[in-house]
Amino acid sequence: MTDSTAQTPPTGAALRFPDGFAWGTATASYQIEGAVDEDGRGPSIWDTFSHTPGKVLAGDTGDVADDHYHRYREDVELLAELGCTHYRFSVAWPRVQPDGRGALNERGLDFYQRLVETLLERGIQPYVTLYHWDLPQPLEDAGGWPERDTAARFAEYAQLVHQRLRDRVRRWTTLNEPWCSAFLGYAGGVHAPGRTEPAAAMRAAHHLLLGHGLAVQALRASDATSRLSITLNLYPVDPVSDSHADAEAARRIDGQMNRLFLDPLLAGRYPGDVLDDVAEVTDGAYIRDGDATIIGSPLDALGVNYYTRHTVRADPDAGRIASEPSEWIAAGDIEFVDQGLPKTAMGWEIDAQGLYDVLTRVSRDYDAPPLYVTENGAAFDDVVAGDGQVHDTDRVRYLHSHFRSALRAIADGVDLRGYLVWSLLDNFEWAFGYSRRFGLIYIDYETQARIPKDSARWYARVTRQNAVPDVD
Ligand code: FCB
Repeated sequence: MTDSTAQTPPTGAALRFPDGFAWGTATASYQIEGAVDEDGRGPSIWDTFSHTPGKVLAGDTGDVADDHYHRYREDVELLAELGCTHYRFSVAWPRVQPDGRGALNERGLDFYQRLVETLLERGIQPYVTLYHWDLPQPLEDAGGWPERDTAARFAEYAQLVHQRLRDRVRRWTTLNEPWCSAFLGYAGGVHAPGRTEPAAAMRAAHHLLLGHGLAVQALRASDATSRLSITLNLYPVDPVSDSHADAEAARRIDGQMNRLFLDPLLAGRYPGDVLDDVAEVTDGAYIRDGDATIIGSPLDALGVNYYTRHTVRADPDAGRIASEPSEWIAAGDIEFVDQGLPKTAMGWEIDAQGLYDVLTRVSRDYDAPPLYVTENGAAFDDVVAGDGQVHDTDRVRYLHSHFRSALRAIADGVDLRGYLVWSLLDNFEWAFGYSRRFGLIYIDYETQARIPKDSARWYARVTRQNAVPDVD
């Protein structure tokens, strides 16, 4: 049982975060905005996917979501009440460049300009993600991320948005979780665009990274003061035993999940063992000379999203049927096993120690820039109680244990600069629709009423004290 809380000495001094630590929450455009047909927005792959029967639980779509497009002022007030110094949100590419190429749609851009102004008026720093999975549908129609041209389109879009907002926005993230875009979207097929082509997924991963690198170079060249980053979803991957076969299984999953992204971004080269592992699927001919240098362009920060740990074993008998789609490439002989820990409503094991493990791993294994936890949080089956409140004690405990874990990582030398909780609001949780609630603020989807949960009040104490209070 790994409980970081138990290992943290309960002294007041040890519970404080460094001065100037960034506290905030994170959201993503398609998950909260709604207004999918307004002010010239074009369709994204998530509009198409969610409107395809059977793809999203209960047939939910992002058509209305949290109606944040119209209620952003109220939502910024909530951020202020939470004491957030930072707010991470994403720009919907199809809202500002509906065809994925060409001139900006001014009415779409206006929305983000108004949002940024409103944040700044409340003293909240915008932390902008340029791509959180809502690719303009016309670019998918042209082949999507498996096509090299999509990387160039992304860099061009990034430049256009940056030019318009860079005087007020200092922190920029190119991509959110390229592993999900590539492998859930193009191999597992459980995310948009729902393709199940392992070779295309490998190409997509490369072109996402290339698009990131091209964008970093362009943004850096136009404004040396912008702080540039990317956000990865990282997991510790452990073998279930110390057998050689299980160690190999862990190496392979860690390779696809973590090192396939960390190595090119932070060490300027692909991990050879991972490319060898997937050689039966693709020969990697899409990687051209010079790409590694572009992808490895220096960063000012790395965003880490952390949710759980993976524990794996090699089990040739339990392998997936070869024809069954999977987000794991050439890994049908690897099984994921429970550690027996309590789970969130996503079925993800709660393992606060894992956050310490990923943060220290990145710091130890790489010449890493400063780190931010750009997402961490949990879905639970929240209900509005008779008193009209949401008593989400489980979420408070979850955050408490993970904040303590982050503190231990800092104490052990990790340069962690901030923590953005996923999420501000309950929202459209991708293939799970509205059935999974991650918010500090509860959304009544009938009325769009925002109800701060107990965790919101607790988090406001954390942000104001810059310290982790005891759970009471
Ligand atoms: C991450 C995504 C985010 C949200 C959380 C729960 O993978 O970046 O949009 O869905 O998981």
